[in-house]
Amino acid sequence: MNYFNMLLKQGHKILIFGKKGQLGTSFKIGFNSHKNFLQLGKDDVDFLNLKSIPPIINEFKPTLIFNVSAYTNVNLAENNIDDAYKINGNALTVIAKTALKNKSTLIHFSTDYIFDGFKLGKYRETDLPNPLNIYGKSKLFGEKNILKSECNFFIFRISWLMSEFGTNFLKTIMNKIYEGEDLFVINDQIGSPISSELVTQIVVEILAKDKIKNPKEIFHLSTKGKISWFDIAIHTAKIMSASKNVNIKSISSNYYDSKVKRPQNSIFDHTKVEQILGRKLPFWKDDITPVIKKILLKTNN
Ligand SMILES: NC(=O)c1ccc[n+]([C@@H]2O[C@H](COP(=O)([O-])OP(=O)(O)OC[C@H]3O[C@@H](n4cnc5c(N)ncnc54)[C@H](OP(=O)(O)O)[C@@H]3O)[C@@H](O)[C@H]2O)c1
Repeated sequence: MNYFNMLLKQGHKILIFGKKGQLGTSFKIGFNSHKNFLQLGKDDVDFLNLKSIPPIINEFKPTLIFNVSAYTNVNLAENNIDDAYKINGNALTVIAKTALKNKSTLIHFSTDYIFDGFKLGKYRETDLPNPLNIYGKSKLFGEKNILKSECNFFIFRISWLMSEFGTNFLKTIMNKIYEGEDLFVINDQIGSPISSELVTQIVVEILAKDKIKNPKEIFHLSTKGKISWFDIAIHTAKIMSASKNVNIKSISSNYYDSKVKRPQNSIFDHTKVEQILGRKLPFWKDDITPVIKKILLKTNN
């Protein structure tokens, strides 16, 4: 079933903020070009200029607004606090208020970084946020602004997003493996990576099935399994048949040269999404291995 087409056939008008990033590119591929689909990047609407946001929504009058735009550089956010808060926070007040006025439903993406990672078990949607860094704080500010606005919304919190597009851990590791560099990879931050393709497919399926009567919901979305960045690096080298040529060493985050604190536990309880889908989410390897293979194919061509 192609749920992207189904949404359009249901008569939805779809506006997406964010074009060239990981999720933006996956949504673009999914929706293809259609007269009821409009996708805008930061060259079209810059969230640092908040006034530029409402006219687009008021004019296009979408039924669904997807926001995949964000200030995503966790390290740089520490020094660019105003920009991070404006793009991840204030822009959401403006989008949500304009969505309410136009009766549009807002689909927004948030992060595991709103949690401190100290919980011993999996993070549920109802757990109390406590971000450790500016990126996490600014993303939580965005969530709160949406909730305050009273517009209809779905917030999908995702973690460890990977794809063949844009910048992500997988691509960085693969480049280093190609270059034959010794790798030192963190072993004490735990998560469940998910591909941007799977995120967009599941989000669109949930919307197309239209089972949620009160669209003011937060969801945790990830794959199954608990692994560290080190485990992903080892798996990636294996798929690249490079295990023998590369030296991958596991290190504790205490030895990693970063001033930014990151959560050590990013594992989500995604029961709520599974209940709506009526099936289990895949194991991380089944989702991520094809992404590694796609990157390999692109690199070899
Ligand atoms: N990456 C992860 O591991 C991860 C984990 C958890 C949650 N998330 C969340 O998932 C969402 C998508 O992440 P991603 O990895 O796909 O992002 P990404 O690849 O870093 O892309 C960032 C997007 O933000 C847009 N953008 C940046 N500055 C902007 C500005 N001033 N005005 C308007 N748009 C601006 C970019 O626009 P252009 O299209 O013009 O380039 C791009 O589409 C974000 O909300 C992020 O917080 C990501």
